[in-house]
Formats: sequence, structure tokens, C-alpha cells
Amino acid sequence: MPSEPNAPQTILILGGTSEAAELARDLVARHPDARVITSLAGRTRDPAPLAGEVRSGGFGGVEGLANFIRAERVTRMVDATHPFARQISANAIEAAKIAGVQLDIRTRTAWAKQPGDNWIEVETLNQARDVIPPRARVLLALGSQHIGLFASREDVHFIVRMIDPPEHPLELPDHALILGRPGDTPAVETLLLIAHSITHIVCRNSGGKAAYAKIEAARELGVPVIMVGRGD
Ligand SMILES: NC(=O)c1ccc[n+]([C@@H]2O[C@H](COP(=O)([O-])OP(=O)(O)OC[C@H]3O[C@@H](n4cnc5c(N)ncnc54)[C@H](OP(=O)(O)O)[C@@H]3O)[C@@H](O)[C@H]2O)c1
Repeated sequence: MPSEPNAPQTILILGGTSEAAELARDLVARHPDARVITSLAGRTRDPAPLAGEVRSGGFGGVEGLANFIRAERVTRMVDATHPFARQISANAIEAAKIAGVQLDIRTRTAWAKQPGDNWIEVETLNQARDVIPPRARVLLALGSQHIGLFASREDVHFIVRMIDPPEHPLELPDHALILGRPGDTPAVETLLLIAHSITHIVCRNSGGKAAYAKIEAARELGVPVIMVGRGD
């Protein structure tokens, strides 16, 4: 339902990204009268603090999201989720129609290949796994749900970086686990690539600033990046 012209706004940010956190900070600072709610999927155990209100966990599909919008009298929804989080973005489009709220889509644009980049571009994670050369030492810069796909590459040493310790031992036969967030400068990522003698990086073309430092470090060192595209 459209809001009263001067009624306080309730803005729902579909988040889980650094851009969503920045947006929440900005909206809270610029619109002190507005209610700003960031929604997280609830996958990260100890998410960084966010400005405004935070809710966590799935809504229960399109209908659940539409119900939430109505119940909380959301006046505007912003999709600032990760570009590979396709389900929630599709749900947001449908739920916005059903509940009759404005939807702003703020999905990051993909990274463009720069001079000096050595990218092996593939369309799927399966293809990424299959193009890794034998005996490579690979920084696997992927979410934990995708790691198991690489278990069949017994001939490859994987370096996996995760924010939270895994709940179960990783299925990869030969790997090292690094706990922590990605380095925010190319210099930090360069040190990591050198320290682990990394020969290849596998990642998805997420776009955005937060994960780009490793791409710049790879360019600097001439390390090939097996880049999974978005398929669009
Ligand atoms: N995919 C990635 O590589 C990636 C990387 C970094 C951060 N993230 C963040 O992690 C979250 C989950 O990503 P995903 O790829 O698993 O998403 P997805 O496949 O698009 O979503 C799967 C289900 O998770 C719930 N969900 C996802 N994002 C949500 C949110 N912000 N608030 C409430 N529920 C949410 C929804 O459940 P219901 O249908 O029950 O509502 C959705 O149907 C997203 O918020 C995304 O921004 C994802």
C-alpha cells in the first residue's frame, strides 16, 4: 500500500554484502526519521554490526517476503544482495509486485578484465574444477557450500579461506584452511599468494570492492585466475 506523503519511511535492505552495510549506514545517517531494516540470510554466525535494525533468516519464499513487507509496513525495498544470490533477488521482484512496494535493485556490476589480468574464463564451477592443471596450488575463493565440488581433484593442493570455521571437516583431500576475512588491500593478498606458493585462484565474478584485492594481487604476480562468470 502506498505510504502517506510525509509518513516515516520503512526501508527494507536485502543485505549480506559490504555494499548493503554501507547503504544502511548512509540511510540511517541521512534519514533519521526512517526505519531502516537490514535482512540477512543468517549464514554468518557472527555478522559485523550494522546501522539500523537487523533481522535474520529466510522469509519463507515469495509469500513470506510479501507478508513481511505488509506486516512491517515497508515502504521501499532495496536488493543489495550478492550477485550470485539469485533466489532472493528473484523473490524480491515477485514480492514487491505482490505487496505493491518500490524495489531498487543495487546489484554490483561484474569486474571487467584489465590489461595484465590472466583470466581463464569459464561458465560454471564444474568447468572451473576441470580446467585446474594437475599439481596446482589453488586459492579457492568460494563460499563453503561450493567447496565439496572440488573434492575429486586429489592431485591439487587447495587453500581455503573462510570467515567461520567449518562445521564439518572439509571434503578436500589436500588442503590448508585459513580463517578470516579477505584482505582489503592488494599488498595483503599478495603476501598470502606468495606465502602459500599459490599458482591459481578460483573465484566467481562477484564484482564490488571487497573481494577485488586478490584479483589485483594476482595481476601483480602474474597468477592466473579461473573466473566463473555470471552466465548473463
Ligand atoms: N552467493 C554468494 O556467493 C554470496 C556471497 C556473499 C554474500 N552472500 C549473501 O548471503 C546471502 C545468501 O546467499 P545465497 O546465495 O544463499 O542466496 P539465495 O540462493 O539467493 O537465497 C536462498 C534463500 O536464502 C534466503 N535468503 C537469501 N538472502 C537473504 C537475505 N538477505 N535475507 C533473508 N533471507 C535471505 C531466502 O530464503 P527464503 O526463500 O526462505 O526467504 C532465499 O530464498 C545473501 O543475503 C547474499 O547477499 C552471498
